[in-house]
Amino acid sequence: MPFLGGDREPGVPAFPEGWFYLAMASDLQPGGVLARRVCGRDVVAFRTEAGSVGVLDAHCPHLGAHLGHGGRVVGEALRCPFHALHWDATGKCVGADDGPAPGIYASARTWPLREIHGALLVHYSATHAPPAWGIPDPGMDGWSPVASATLRFPGHVLEVAENGVDRRHFLAVHGYTDVTPFEVDVDGPVMRSRFGFNKDGIAQRFDTLVYGLGYAITDLRIEQLGIHARIILLSNQVDAETVDFTVCTTVEGGLAWMDRFLAAIVDDVKKDLPIWAHKRRLSKPALVPGDGPIGKYRLFARQFYPPET
Ligand code: FES
Ligand SMILES: [Fe+2]
Repeated sequence: MPFLGGDREPGVPAFPEGWFYLAMASDLQPGGVLARRVCGRDVVAFRTEAGSVGVLDAHCPHLGAHLGHGGRVVGEALRCPFHALHWDATGKCVGADDGPAPGIYASARTWPLREIHGALLVHYSATHAPPAWGIPDPGMDGWSPVASATLRFPGHVLEVAENGVDRRHFLAVHGYTDVTPFEVDVDGPVMRSRFGFNKDGIAQRFDTLVYGLGYAITDLRIEQLGIHARIILLSNQVDAETVDFTVCTTVEGGLAWMDRFLAAIVDDVKKDLPIWAHKRRLSKPALVPGDGPIGKYRLFARQFYPPET
């Protein structure tokens, strides 16, 4: 198991467990096949002709072809390009081009899948344990269609998630002023944090629910502009060194300049990238007053470390 660089805090895993971003549902139309890497594992996602989505370990249980490279949907199954066995969304071999399933007992490992506001999330567990917690659907009635953009950069989901409670960086990196103290509550796999700040002279307030290390939804209020928005941040640890970070935005009642709103949020996130790409994770940071609840976050984050092997 690869570990994080820096001073290599013992036990910090390359791949924490929980729900992580796979793709937007719109990336996968009926008949579509996607090859992805999630938490260092190769997966294949496909949408059947009837519209359901399957996510399997990418390599065919038969002789190891990658189902995401040349695999195609046949009815409700995914056809392997190598010997034309058909695998359904439950991982079972349900047939072959030349007839019924030829008595193969192996099945493809399936990934627990959740579709929420147009995003597909999968659950990673090093031991293949079923998900012990979920992410509620916040409901999108009255909200504009979710707009999204994905950034890929060198880094780690632990660092990305830590950013949300790193009070001083909001001043230094993002140029926020008057950042209030953070109110942070942890309830099992959910962390809620709230704070207010000024950006470009406009008062704003973040109220964020963080579910694990791969999903955060921020309720953003900008009273002066009459904006009530949601910023949804979705992470995936692609491999030990690479993060995909998907920024989603939606505004209650819509906004004439939705594209610019998403672009502004993405621009703000991009300010973090040079820091994330080059920083070290210090197991014993020299915290100072006003840093924010970083210790509390790290305690929260530990619950997602895989069991010792
Ligand atoms: S490797 Fe997939 S059918 Fe043989
Ligand atoms: Fe940041």
